[in-house]
Amino acid sequence: MSTRLDTDSSQPVDLLSSEDGLAEAVARRRNFAIISHPDAGKTTLTEKLLLYGGAIQQAGAVKARGEQRKVTSDWMELEKQRGISITSTVLQFDYSGSTINLLDTPGHQDFSEDTYRTLAAADNAVMLEDAAKGLEPQTRKLFEVCRMREIPIFTFINKMDRPGREPLALLDEIEAELGLTPWAVNWPIGSGEFFRGVIDRRTRQVVLFSRAERGRQSEEKLLDLDDPELKDLVEPELLDQAIEDLDLLEAAGAELDLELVHAGELTPVFFGSAMTNFGVRPFLDAFMDMAQKPVARIGTDGPVDPLRPDFSGFVFKLQANMDPRHRDRVAFVRVCSGRFEKDMSVRHARTGRTIRLSRPQKLFGQDRAVVEDAYPGDVIGLNNPGMFSIGDTLYTGTKVEYEGIPCFSPEIFSWLRNPNPSAFKNFRKGVNELREEGAVQILYDTDESKRDPILAAVGQLQLEVVQHRLENEYGVDTRLEPLGFQVARWVTGGWTSLEDVGRIFNCKTVRDAWNRPVLLFKNEWNLNQLIEEHPELDLSTVAPVVSGVEPISL
Ligand code: G4P
Repeated sequence: MSTRLDTDSSQPVDLLSSEDGLAEAVARRRNFAIISHPDAGKTTLTEKLLLYGGAIQQAGAVKARGEQRKVTSDWMELEKQRGISITSTVLQFDYSGSTINLLDTPGHQDFSEDTYRTLAAADNAVMLEDAAKGLEPQTRKLFEVCRMREIPIFTFINKMDRPGREPLALLDEIEAELGLTPWAVNWPIGSGEFFRGVIDRRTRQVVLFSRAERGRQSEEKLLDLDDPELKDLVEPELLDQAIEDLDLLEAAGAELDLELVHAGELTPVFFGSAMTNFGVRPFLDAFMDMAQKPVARIGTDGPVDPLRPDFSGFVFKLQANMDPRHRDRVAFVRVCSGRFEKDMSVRHARTGRTIRLSRPQKLFGQDRAVVEDAYPGDVIGLNNPGMFSIGDTLYTGTKVEYEGIPCFSPEIFSWLRNPNPSAFKNFRKGVNELREEGAVQILYDTDESKRDPILAAVGQLQLEVVQHRLENEYGVDTRLEPLGFQVARWVTGGWTSLEDVGRIFNCKTVRDAWNRPVLLFKNEWNLNQLIEEHPELDLSTVAPVVSGVEPISL
């Protein structure tokens, strides 16, 4: 396996530090995250994209398999045992004069909370579908987050080399189920065994597919749609069918309107096959053309222009013990404005403290390098001695504070018991640090004599990882005791609005780490019953954003 770390040194520093330099650096940056259901081919597509960027020289480097895989932390050991991917990092590479930041998200659905937070740092999303399966549950869920944040979505329909569903049906599904208008940029000729290539709708050119050895680059031969040679290379009935479909699409009349793409209302759709590397380069080229460059982020005083000369950014992810030899904690910061420089002193908006950032890092998979500078759209890794929380803003110049990152509604709840009182100190440290990292949400009983924390997670595996990490990183054995609830809602109006409605039934009231009321229900039915009885009670699936207050520690 070989990786290359680019430190963005292609431009002279004095040019980039000027205002023009900042504008130029922003204009050539694109940042995106891939949303998909496990097995749709995210790892394979990522590998192929990185190959184009020259960031890896060999496919197979992203999810190094078997013996190749470096184990750098105990819970990565758990990943290895279970054959899953639960960590995520950022991959930066240069491609045709642009700098691309790919915000990698964990592959396992139990870690979707982590993906939600990563999407908060993304300017664009690539929705990856398996042509045989269409929309799948995890994709739908992540799409909702993109919609909420109005993130532009580019759709890549993968595995066209295998039998799949009708392309028109796949587009209809996107439109009907997601309310997103699809606009096919290319259209497939045949599928599965009879997949012959795609027609680029904008140029009316045909890119022919030739079946290469498994996993190898398939050759892309380019012909005009009216080239007579085409008839010798493609079965006429397949070509006729594709042209007929294209005519139908044209008749439907939608236009590829970039404003709608950027508003997250229209999705450009591409057909291809990541494994055979067919259609990946044209996809990347079109993406570079159409994707949104780093955009203004919303601060408490309104949008903050990325061209604001002073640096600002926010923490979207914390990760502890990535390297167990150093027991380190890393805060991932998305740069939102200005130029970030190594050794810079910045303000921490929540505490007002000044911090010198002496060893900012760029992480590439599991490798790191010290970053000299970074620009809006980039992500830097900072050493976190326990000072940073998710959503924190860092800035220079006049004060900026970004909107926090919401927590999403957990679906699994369990008491976390510490059977060994002498280990309480470590138990407390572990619980507090894992909460701070966002590995799990922590709730508490309203009865303060019941001090054990309630773990609230999106998936069971998330709880297992917390237990595993408490044991391996903090040396405490714990016991999980499930609570029989499946639905959580925050009471938007706080404790007073809850008191106003008086006694409520069929739910349990708990407190979150910011002492805000959360209601737990056994099922949606009980929730709906409460909504019917008390329509005045405002409930939310998303925790209100916190600013300026410290959480309750165990
Ligand atoms: P994920 O990260 O989204 O979970 O998916 P991943 O890339 O690991 O791909 C899941 C499986 O789908 C892999 O097969 C991969 O080779 C296959 N795949 C990805 N893209 C394509 C494609 O365009 N066409 C076809 N036919 N298959 C594709 P696997 O058997 O699970 O793993 P492996 O033995 O290939 O590593």
